[in-house]
Amino acid sequence: MSKGGAAKRVKRGEAREGGEALARKPVDQLTMDEAAEELERLAEEIAKHDKLYYQKDAPRISDADYDALRKRNDAIEARYPELVREDSPSQRVGAEPAAGFGKVVHSVPMLSLGNAFDDEDVTDFWNRIVKFLNLKPEDELAVTAEPKIDGLSASLRYEKGKFVLGATRGDGREGENITENIRTIADIPQTLKGDDIPDIVEVRGEVYMAHTDFEKLNERQREAGKPVFANPRNAAAGSLRQLDPKVTASRPLRFFAYAWGEMPEMPSDTQSGMMEVFAGWGFTINPLFQRSTSVEELLAFYHDIEERRATLDYDIDGVVYKVDRLDWQSRLGFVSRSPRWAIAHKFPAEQATTVLEKIEIQVGRTGAMTPVARLKPVTVGGVVVSNATLHNADEIERLGVRPGDTVVVQRAGDVIPQIVRVVEDRPRGEKPFKFPDKCPECGSHAVREINPKTGKPDAVMRCTGGLVCPAQAVERLRHFVSRNAFDIEGLGEKQISAFYEDKLIVKPDDIFTLEERDKTSLKKLKDREGWGATSAKKLFEAINQRREVELDRFIFALGIRHVGETNARLLARSYGTLENFETQMRAAADPESAARADLLSIDGVGEVLAEALTDFFAEKHNLEVLDGLKKAGVKAIPLEAQETDSPVAGKTVVFTGSLERMTRSEAKARAEQMGAKVAGSVSGKTDLVVAGPGAGSKIAKARELGIEVIDEDKWMEMAAN
Ligand code: IVH
Repeated sequence: MSKGGAAKRVKRGEAREGGEALARKPVDQLTMDEAAEELERLAEEIAKHDKLYYQKDAPRISDADYDALRKRNDAIEARYPELVREDSPSQRVGAEPAAGFGKVVHSVPMLSLGNAFDDEDVTDFWNRIVKFLNLKPEDELAVTAEPKIDGLSASLRYEKGKFVLGATRGDGREGENITENIRTIADIPQTLKGDDIPDIVEVRGEVYMAHTDFEKLNERQREAGKPVFANPRNAAAGSLRQLDPKVTASRPLRFFAYAWGEMPEMPSDTQSGMMEVFAGWGFTINPLFQRSTSVEELLAFYHDIEERRATLDYDIDGVVYKVDRLDWQSRLGFVSRSPRWAIAHKFPAEQATTVLEKIEIQVGRTGAMTPVARLKPVTVGGVVVSNATLHNADEIERLGVRPGDTVVVQRAGDVIPQIVRVVEDRPRGEKPFKFPDKCPECGSHAVREINPKTGKPDAVMRCTGGLVCPAQAVERLRHFVSRNAFDIEGLGEKQISAFYEDKLIVKPDDIFTLEERDKTSLKKLKDREGWGATSAKKLFEAINQRREVELDRFIFALGIRHVGETNARLLARSYGTLENFETQMRAAADPESAARADLLSIDGVGEVLAEALTDFFAEKHNLEVLDGLKKAGVKAIPLEAQETDSPVAGKTVVFTGSLERMTRSEAKARAEQMGAKVAGSVSGKTDLVVAGPGAGSKIAKARELGIEVIDEDKWMEMAAN
């Protein structure tokens, strides 16, 4: 991003002496606490300048000063990856809707794409599709390929052929209303061409700036004494989000159509057909778009584009593949927020060479001890990198890397920098690195857990200290209040660390008794450094608002190993209430118990997850946390089923025998979408068995238990309604 305006340094009104000194301290000399403080200051400062630039159109610092702030933020985050804040400028996907633009809720969400990084990932993608759809050798699978444009996606709505609404992607669910700015883009038709235009049409694609136009624009900027843009993407972003459409009109933006949103009447049944329709309506489609019928053809296309990349007049960062048949696209559906039927094959990351000065150990929320390489700072892809993750002891061994070695580092997208290899023909480090067997934070023993699946030791060394380990306690508390968990505003890493240090909050329930204790405390929150009556009141309000959260958030917040958001949701759906979940998990500690069998019968729960859950509930201090929360009046709200009006909502379904019209994964995905729980075995809890040919003992068992059994045709009927 580039910034305009006079190079006037802004004074931070309330900055303390210490803060000013901190702002000048070299990144590699910052302690963890100082780094946390700096990241907070930078997040605030950068957000302020973003607002001045984008929303008020009144920047107050120069481009270079702004870039320096962002670089410092990135460098601190690279050094302390565990301190990355949720509101960090590096974490913002696109910008939040600016106050100056209205908001638009997308009628169909604007999703993102999964990534493939090498040829093998693409072959896996192809094979996954064949398997999911259960394609026979005689079935032709066609997949389209086109460049991945490095611009900004936009959604354009037409009613009765007239352009009525343009929106940015935003967070995918909600974007900004940029209708008037879109109207200024010559590539985008105001009225769709042709006679047979459906009443409602939403075309999606990428707004970008061509290289030649970008050069000309910067030339104009220079002549007018205005700041130049750093790259075409930033220029396009800055231009599209201008509050004054006249400014946008003076910027040479272009548009490639490649997808759609709401489209009640589909004018074609293939991806490639849709592209032809778009062209017919008057949109520009990418001229390199092609349709292939083998993975070899896709890869040849990718490598050809990679070679021609520098000769194209626009920036691209990879190639996108999409299944051509739309009925297959809808059968394939989505995983989380990306389609199963499409993938982005990214171009390789940028690399640089530097010296690894030392290896330090960081302890994470779950006690995982991660080695971090401290590097001699080096610029990789425009960002200064001074740290890289080494993952674990095996990785250090695999790379054969020693402190003092010259190494190749790489950055891939937003991923934390990595070490690719040691440069052998440079002087090598003297001593191999010895991985510590004690936690550097609390001195507890570190162990390598045995992976229950393989029976082999895990790659990760873990501190056994739990909540007694400060690294884990603070991390666990931070996780507990984080956005997808309890989501308590105003309780960030910095506050949690300070409260933890003063023993005000050492376990989750302390958060909810903070206000009560504060009333009788001699040192009140409002009198603490950095706090006042208003901010203390705000924090108590934020806490009080979160005394009841959805069960999946509650489960996720507990920080149980292997329980991310997806598993938390699965467990919340399966067990319904917190009380039931807790009782069942405690009962499941007995490997022979019915509770354990039930847990393992949930589709998606394997031995590793079951073990992690029962281990967690077997720990006294974890039960104390749950009790403490209950005593503090914290409640979990049960989740609602996805499709509450479907005939199988809230029911447990078992698929058995061979299914002929769909694959097992497809059937499972659809049933879950309809609000059902899918189990692998028939038990007293089963409500419905869908049996294909060859189903044996499960049908017998179902009959015995008086459970309804239906065939695949009947299921398809239910699923279609
Ligand atoms: S298809 C449901 N095609 O990449 C998938 N996306 O990571 C819809 N992008 O947000 C996207 N070129 O901004 C698609 N030819 C292309 C693309 C493309 C660029 C961007 C788009 C999207 C992101 C996904």
